[in-house]
Amino acid sequence: MSLRLFEARMDLDLRCNYRCRYCLGHGEPSAPVEPYSLDYLAKAFATLGELCWSVYLSCAGEPLMHPRLPEVIGAANRAFALTDTSLVTNGSLLNEARIGVLAASALTHVFVSLDTVDPGLYSHLCGATPKSAARVLLQIQALARACERRGAPRVGLIAIAMRSTLPHLEALARFAVDSGIRVVRVHWLIADRPHPFIDAERVDPGSALPVLRRVQRLLAAHGVAFEYPDPDLLNKARATLARVRATPAPVGYVLYQAKKLWQRRRLCGCRAAGRPLTVVGDGELLFCSHPAHSVGNVTTSSVAELRARIAQKIDHLRVQPFAECRGCGFAAA
Ligand SMILES: C[S@@+](CC[C@H](N)C(=O)[O-])C[C@H]1O[C@@H](n2cnc3c(N)ncnc32)[C@H](O)[C@@H]1O
Ligand code: SF4
Repeated sequence: MSLRLFEARMDLDLRCNYRCRYCLGHGEPSAPVEPYSLDYLAKAFATLGELCWSVYLSCAGEPLMHPRLPEVIGAANRAFALTDTSLVTNGSLLNEARIGVLAASALTHVFVSLDTVDPGLYSHLCGATPKSAARVLLQIQALARACERRGAPRVGLIAIAMRSTLPHLEALARFAVDSGIRVVRVHWLIADRPHPFIDAERVDPGSALPVLRRVQRLLAAHGVAFEYPDPDLLNKARATLARVRATPAPVGYVLYQAKKLWQRRRLCGCRAAGRPLTVVGDGELLFCSHPAHSVGNVTTSSVAELRARIAQKIDHLRVQPFAECRGCGFAAA
């Protein structure tokens, strides 16, 4: 197998049962869409398994909405045996049957997005009822127990640091410790356009750092990995080492990190090109967030063709930006 130097994300289902206030894809009710066919998903998985060291099985929708989840995860198990594969879910549809499917899978991680354990704030952010917030917490604990019995997949939480959630982050960390969670990831809010809710909730990284460091110490004392945008180089190196140990694709991970560093200042100001690649709609593989930058279709293009077109995009960006880069949120100022 040739080197797999890419990371990609694709949806298992474009629909979502939540309407989170900060979610760029779901500010408005989504158009009615059919679930993806198993044939489409199996073809896409096979291509991504050859191209990528890491694949995220969710992007803008809720993966547990797929009506044939056991078969979908079966296809992912076959295609991604050597790939670092993460499923990211809001956790609201977890039940005994779905927990069984995920706990028996070859996924590396199952991440549940949980910004807070405060029921009122949870329902404010996601539009769910406080009762469903309590149910999600119980199902996360059941998932963690089921995965712990087999030793895999690693169950993680993904939280967004916002003005409203930051004061509750330590409580979330305590919940993670008590529930057998293996990793907690914290992101900043992102928006590619002005967005009143996100603009009001965005936090200054410098002021959030003391809270994040406290949470890091709490989690480290209980052996829970904590991944957050930490400017400290030593902490970054430690997190990288922990990730190398946890991934089934350590060579791809290390080379990918090196590639990102190398490209950082060489791609005419683009901070996002080529990482991660995104599969949209009917299988188009986007090089960056702009829909004009498809490099082919994951169900019909060969892996060699996709690699060649990605290389062409990189070569172009090393010399000059694309016309579409003007005004893009990922273009460095
Ligand atoms: C779009 S969701 C799709 C998967 C699933 N529905 C979920 O919520 O986990 C994937 C991840 O993106 C995060 N997310 C959504 N909007 C975001 C934003 N504006 N900034 C940062 N992260 C965001 C969610 O919290 C979630 O962890
Ligand atoms: S659950 Fe996920 S996809 Fe759905 S609205 Fe919230 S962040 Fe967006």
